[in-house]
Amino acid sequence: MARASPVFVCGSCGGETLKWQGQCPLCGEWNSLEQRRAVAPRSTPAAKAVALGSAVAAAAAEGRIASGAHELDRVLGGGLVPGSVILLGGDPGIGKSTLLLQVAAFAAGSRAVLYASGEESVAQVSLRAQRLSLADAALSVVAETDLAAILALAAEQRAALLVIDSIQTVQSASAGAPAGAVSQLRECTAELVRFAKSSGTAVIIVGHVTKEGTIAGPRLLEHLVDTVLYFQHEAGSRYRIVRATKNRFGAVNELGFFAMTAGGLREVKNPAAIFLARPSEPAPGSIVTVTREGGRPLLIELQALVDRMRFGAPRRIAQGLDANRLAMLLAAASRHAGLALQEHDVFVNVVGGMEIAETSSDLPVLIALSSSLKGQPLPAQLMSFGEIGLTGEVRPVAYGDERLREAQAQGFRIAIVPQGNAPRTAPAGLRVIAVTRIAEALEAALARSG
Ligand code: TYD
Ligand code: MG
Repeated sequence: MARASPVFVCGSCGGETLKWQGQCPLCGEWNSLEQRRAVAPRSTPAAKAVALGSAVAAAAAEGRIASGAHELDRVLGGGLVPGSVILLGGDPGIGKSTLLLQVAAFAAGSRAVLYASGEESVAQVSLRAQRLSLADAALSVVAETDLAAILALAAEQRAALLVIDSIQTVQSASAGAPAGAVSQLRECTAELVRFAKSSGTAVIIVGHVTKEGTIAGPRLLEHLVDTVLYFQHEAGSRYRIVRATKNRFGAVNELGFFAMTAGGLREVKNPAAIFLARPSEPAPGSIVTVTREGGRPLLIELQALVDRMRFGAPRRIAQGLDANRLAMLLAAASRHAGLALQEHDVFVNVVGGMEIAETSSDLPVLIALSSSLKGQPLPAQLMSFGEIGLTGEVRPVAYGDERLREAQAQGFRIAIVPQGNAPRTAPAGLRVIAVTRIAEALEAALARSG
């Protein structure tokens, strides 16, 4: 190896410069540059080219590692890919360590697995494993923050899976900054990526997301890794959602559903109705729709509240929906269906904390608004979906049949849907009312109100 030359790394932005300066030329931070030895280029090329065909065959033969949780495998695109690096981000306390201990314990049934915790002692991890009834798992646990030591151990054990919990607690001697500093996060992640690629070990890195964003958390690392997963939940809900925002080995925006229980995270095998917790008495302004967030049908309750404006300009508040879309819907409904809300405050909420980005919620939102305005509840077994156009037409949306089937399976009896989504034969027990205009849809819905 040629002699390494010194490089100065900024502890604040992670930028590199060749000479020391009092102020980082990249981010302007003072006294943040620290010396680090750059790895000099090798004098002989170590890289070796292979025929793509043989690499493809090798990749296919390698096979993915099952995580033990179908919901997680689904989000990953079919399990963990050997040699890949996955970043799992999420708020502290959401259940990242719980999930990964479960995954590590499962994978340890057939392969060597190393779980490196920089946050908890081995005793604490084993206590958690006992609570999760995983105390017998054949997995190795180490409480260590020195990355070189962790990697040496993983190499020695020929680990097929290495879990780093968390990236904020490990440090590498070459970065020189304290654990958690930007340059450390980057250097450690880069070292883990190099290790994964050279050893074929699948690596899962935990990254805490902080509200304040003071430490540049997982976001900075996203481009370094193969897959980025975020663990999310709604305050007060026991459901947890895993979402892939980047995946070199599968589709993004798949959702995996889990529930936090006393025995750890349990998969939610059929999440279609987990957001539905409707009161037995139907209330004005509430309606159910079927979205396809995360690649499968989900029944979600929408709530609208229309209230006479007290003062100033009317308020339009959308929770879980796009506020501009709501403004457009209100204009279309006012112009084409006489739903006059200029003198009213309007609130729309997606129950359960989901975000709906689809246009299929247009029609149910208008029906809910109309129901609230008139103070008439809709029948509990009524559901609706459909897109609204500016000229007052109700437009079909993708996967109409699938949405109707799911609604029927969950016990819905009436569906108000776009004409273009009306099936030739409706699912048994489900009455499909096909509409083409907003006015027609609102009339059909409220004619059936209780
Ligand atoms: P944890 O996995 O430690 O979160 P993270 O690693 O993301 O910070 O999860 C901690 C929370 O989960 C804690 O509030 C307790 C709860 N929990 C359960 O409800 N059941 C369990 O079986 C376990 C292990 C944790
Ligand atoms: Mg943890």
